[in-house]
Amino acid sequence: MSVLQLRMAKDRERPARGDQPLVTPPCFESSPVAFDIEKIRSDFPILKQRVHGKPLVYLDNAATTQKPRSVIDAIVRYYEEENSNIHRGIHYLSERATHDYECARCKVRFFLNAEDEREIIFVRGATEGINLVAQSYGRKRFKQGDEILITAMEHHSNIVPWQMLCEVTGAVLRVAPINDQGELIMEEFEKLVTPKTRLVSVTYVSNALGTVNPVKRITEMAHRQNVPVLVDGAQAAAHAKVDVRDLDCDFFVFSSHKTYGPTGVGILYGRASLLEEMPPYQGGGDMISAVSFEKTLYNRLPFKFEAGTPNIAGGMGLSAAIDYVHGIGLDNVAAYEKSLLAYATESLSQIKGLRIIGTAREKAGVLSFVLENAHPHDIGTILDQEGVAIRAGHHCAQPVMQRFGVPATARASFALYNTKAEIDALVAAIQKVREVFS
Ligand code: ALA
Repeated sequence: MSVLQLRMAKDRERPARGDQPLVTPPCFESSPVAFDIEKIRSDFPILKQRVHGKPLVYLDNAATTQKPRSVIDAIVRYYEEENSNIHRGIHYLSERATHDYECARCKVRFFLNAEDEREIIFVRGATEGINLVAQSYGRKRFKQGDEILITAMEHHSNIVPWQMLCEVTGAVLRVAPINDQGELIMEEFEKLVTPKTRLVSVTYVSNALGTVNPVKRITEMAHRQNVPVLVDGAQAAAHAKVDVRDLDCDFFVFSSHKTYGPTGVGILYGRASLLEEMPPYQGGGDMISAVSFEKTLYNRLPFKFEAGTPNIAGGMGLSAAIDYVHGIGLDNVAAYEKSLLAYATESLSQIKGLRIIGTAREKAGVLSFVLENAHPHDIGTILDQEGVAIRAGHHCAQPVMQRFGVPATARASFALYNTKAEIDALVAAIQKVREVFS
């Protein structure tokens, strides 16, 4: 048995909180290099495809990003060389898979600059992370009349879990308004943080508008009233550096599949002091330290929240994805995507009859728009014929559509492999839509 396996076996015997990291850094297998768009594009096999005879222009990155070869290889390697269950087996494969899976946790810790690996919980995605907090943190603590504060630009996954919680606890959901540019109205937000507020839950970046919220200011405001803050980082983690200690948030969630990793895996970061006090979300294997019919003792963090066999291959893929973006450097990515957004905003603004929905001063690479006389679904269909993939619909943010008085929008969203030439292709395809509907 290796030192790691022994240490983990010992940890698992111990019901109390452990304070040893499971894996010791260094974690990253890459260090930032120069931003080379041709090289980056060649890392993503899917981008070579043609769709309807045209080169694929993939601009639906807010829905899911494409995967670099290294991520695909990491998943294949796991199944070809390591496939076994983790945390359980006293055999070579299990030990190796356990080690690599815990390395992934370590990488996520450094990716988010969390203090401790105990604060990194593997979940199915950002949605499950929010549901975990709602049920585990909120269910026992919130009572009749308590308030949960969100914003008018949330994705359904940061609305519905709180409504479900309100139904069982009698708590009330409050919604901070946004202005016509799609920015949070901070004075109104501040007024809504009251002695009744028990939790603030906000998106970092709006998936429908692209607005980047001033999360650090929000946590400062909320903490002045001793209110914890959950940040939905689903649209943020792949596009700019996230530092949970600097943001001073209490919970942070993101999804692997929007961060160049596989689907079905994501992360909940939680402040250890809060996670320690929270009951498990689900029961089953791995989240216990001892079970009898009379009483069960729960495992220490982070395992207390990880019932059942996890998405092990997903964890390996996420690990490779973090290596990949770390290798390019998130500051480089943010600067590059900012230039793409500026170019796209300028280009689309020239199109007659096109209105951009979401014009906040601080925006990430999301461009939602409507076009005179054309329904967004028709725009999406015609663009697809031109090889251009965008999303059309309400983007799982129906209240945002209501706020802007539109049933749906067409949305182009950018990633580190997109180019200005692809934005030109988008513009040309939109002009075709105009020809059809004018
Ligand atoms: N939340 C994802 C999107 O914005 C699916 O498209």
